[in-house]
Order: sequence, then C-alpha cells, then structure tokens
Amino acid sequence: MKIDILTLFPQMFEGFKSESIIKRAIESNKVKINTCNFRDFAKNKHKKVDDTPYGGGAGMVLMCQPIFDAVESLKTKNSKVILLSPSGKKYDQKKAYELSKEKHLILICGHYEGFDERIKTICDDEISIGDYVLTGGELPAMVLTDSVVRLLPNVIQEDSHINDSFNKNLLDYPTYTKPRSYKGMDVPYVLLSGDHKKINDWRKEKQLKLTKEKRPDLLKNKYVLVKEGIKRNTKKIIYDDIKDIKVVEIKNNNNLKYKVSKDDRLVAITIFNPMKITGYKLKGKSEDKLTKILIVKKEFIYKIAIKNIMKKINILSNRLNLALMNTDNNVVSDALKEAQMLKDMIRSVYLPLLSEEKINSVTKKIDYLVDCFVKMKTGV
Ligand SMILES: C[S@@+](CC[C@H](N)C(=O)[O-])C[C@H]1O[C@@H](n2cnc3c(N)ncnc32)[C@H](O)[C@@H]1O
Repeated sequence: MKIDILTLFPQMFEGFKSESIIKRAIESNKVKINTCNFRDFAKNKHKKVDDTPYGGGAGMVLMCQPIFDAVESLKTKNSKVILLSPSGKKYDQKKAYELSKEKHLILICGHYEGFDERIKTICDDEISIGDYVLTGGELPAMVLTDSVVRLLPNVIQEDSHINDSFNKNLLDYPTYTKPRSYKGMDVPYVLLSGDHKKINDWRKEKQLKLTKEKRPDLLKNKYVLVKEGIKRNTKKIIYDDIKDIKVVEIKNNNNLKYKVSKDDRLVAITIFNPMKITGYKLKGKSEDKLTKILIVKKEFIYKIAIKNIMKKINILSNRLNLALMNTDNNVVSDALKEAQMLKDMIRSVYLPLLSEEKINSVTKKIDYLVDCFVKMKTGV
C-alpha cells in the first residue's frame, strides 16, 4: 500500500514514521508513506495557499488550485482520495478494514478555517476522526494511517487484530500478564487452567458483558445469528453480528428469495423477509460444520431465555415441595446443592443473553425458594 499525505506541515510526520510498528512496516516495504507539501504546487508569487472567505467571516480558507494540482500529480486509477474534515463521516474500525484493502490512499490535511468547498469534488471520501475540532488534519491523517497500516498483512500478527475491540461489534476481552497476583489482585483462574475451550468461552462472555456495560450501542442490532454445531447434543450458541451474514436477493417475487453467505461462503438459499419475521430457520450446507442457522430477533431470544429459566425454577420448586415431605436428613443439603447448581448454570449460560440485573433478579427468586424451604424444613 502507498499513502500520500498532503500537508503544509510535513515535519510533523517525521516522528510518526520513525517509531514502532509504522517504522517497521515502512522498512519491510509493507507500506510507503510520503508527505507532499501542497504549498509547492501554489502558482502565485508568494506560494500562498489560502485566502479570506467569500461573504466574510473569521479565518483563512485553503484554495483549490494547489490542492487540485497536488492531487492530480499523485493520482492513479487505484487511488482513493480522502479529505480529513470534522464534517466527514465518523471514522471507525470497519472503515479502517475497508481502507486497508486499498492500494493507494491520498489524505488531504486541512488547516486554518478549512477548505474551499469545491475541493470536495476531487475527493472520494470525507472522514472525521471524532466530534471535536483540531487545528489541522495532520493528527487525523496519522490516526487513519496508523489504524490502517496495522491491518495490512503481516504488519502485526493477524490474531492480535481479529480479537481487537470493535471487531464483530464487540469490545476486547480483559488481558493479564505476570505476576499472577499483584497487590492482592489475582489473575482469573480460568486463564491459568490451560483449557483453551474454557478460556475462549470466558473471553467471549467477557467481551459480551463489557460491551453490554460500556458500549450497548454496539449491540443495538436487532438480530443475532445462532449457529448450531453438526453433532447432536453439542448445540453451541454463538452470537455474531447479523452484518457478518451477506444476504443477497436472487429473485424478487411474492416470496422473496435470498442467497445467504457468511465469510463469502454460501450457507443457504432460502426464502424469507427479514423485516417481517421474528426469526427464521435456515437449512445450511454442512461443509462449514453448520447444519442450521437461525436468524432471530434479540427480543425473541430474551423471551425464550426467560421462559426456559422459569421452567427450570418451577422444576426446582416442585423438587423442594417433594423434599419437604421427605424425612431423609440429607434432603436439605441436596436441595441447597441443586439450587446452587441451577444458579451457576443460569449465570454461565444466560449471562450473554440477559442483563446482569435480570440474572440477579432470577437468582434471587431461587434464594427465596431455598430460604422458605430451609425455614419450613428446620422449623426456624
Ligand atoms: C480548524 S479545522 C477547521 C474546522 C472547520 N472550520 C469546521 O468547523 O469544520 C482545520 C482542519 O483540521 C482538520 N480537522 C479538524 N478536526 C478534525 C476532525 N475531527 N476530523 C478530521 N479532520 C479534522 C480538517 O482537515 C480541517 O479542515
């Protein structure tokens, strides 16, 4: 990839290019990063690049000519020209991935009051790095360049960015390093267990929990994808972003027909209308160890989860009622064990689906049942 940065302050990029991952990516030819001072393209006598705004007002405005000519001199058929501007579309990790697939980026850094509006006509995209105003586009250009370069093949290890925050709309899981215990704070035991399945499940659960707590906006999609494994009794529920599934309409008649693919692999051809249905079951091909896909509205999953939990609490309640009539001394301890197991199961299985408060409220119901049972059994 090649990145050309149009700036009045090329010096600002020297430090950026000469440290850490960016430096290594340049040295190993994964990326070429050049700065271009568009003042060099100004045709007037004093190399002036800005002027006062028509209609009056504060500040100076960057003129068309130097920027038009600088872009013209760098542009090829593979170039994507990006204007850095507070009024652009807000930058995110998805955009970084998209840009990392490009061959050549030309980034235009503004300064002063901003640009002559006509400069936008030579740009393919207008990007803002956030809802605040900086003095120039240089820091935004560095932010964009840094986030894109680390996604280029072999710049950093692939699995370190596939688990990064915002992938699949989730925040990253918590990480720990040596020592095991620091100032009384211990590393979670599961991470020391060596059991990779347990570690992955723990990380996935933490990602969902953290995202729910800190960035619920990322989970606002209405649908989740539920995948089921091919083996019987090994049903596995994986929460993916519906955006991961590509649904392409292949025929449009009264029954809408869609081709459904995930990661560019065909999963099913089916008929459904995602706008109307609560959920839809797709029969998939088995190549991806995938026999079934369910696309389900989140509220639907929530209702089913509550229904299942209530069913289990009712079973426990019936057992406790029966146990009240039993004279065996072990009955109380067995009941307590059973209640605790149910609470643990609810927490581990349903936490990814429900809120912490909801889990607490259902486990309180179990505590209440057990309390009543113990009081009645012991007569206290
Ligand atoms: C002082 S700003 C101009 C602000 C402009 N008057 C406005 O309110 O939108 C100068 C330049 O800094 C860059 N810039 C400032 N904030 C930015 C942001 N949040 N994202 C991207 N570029 C930004 C742009 O290139 C902009 O033209």
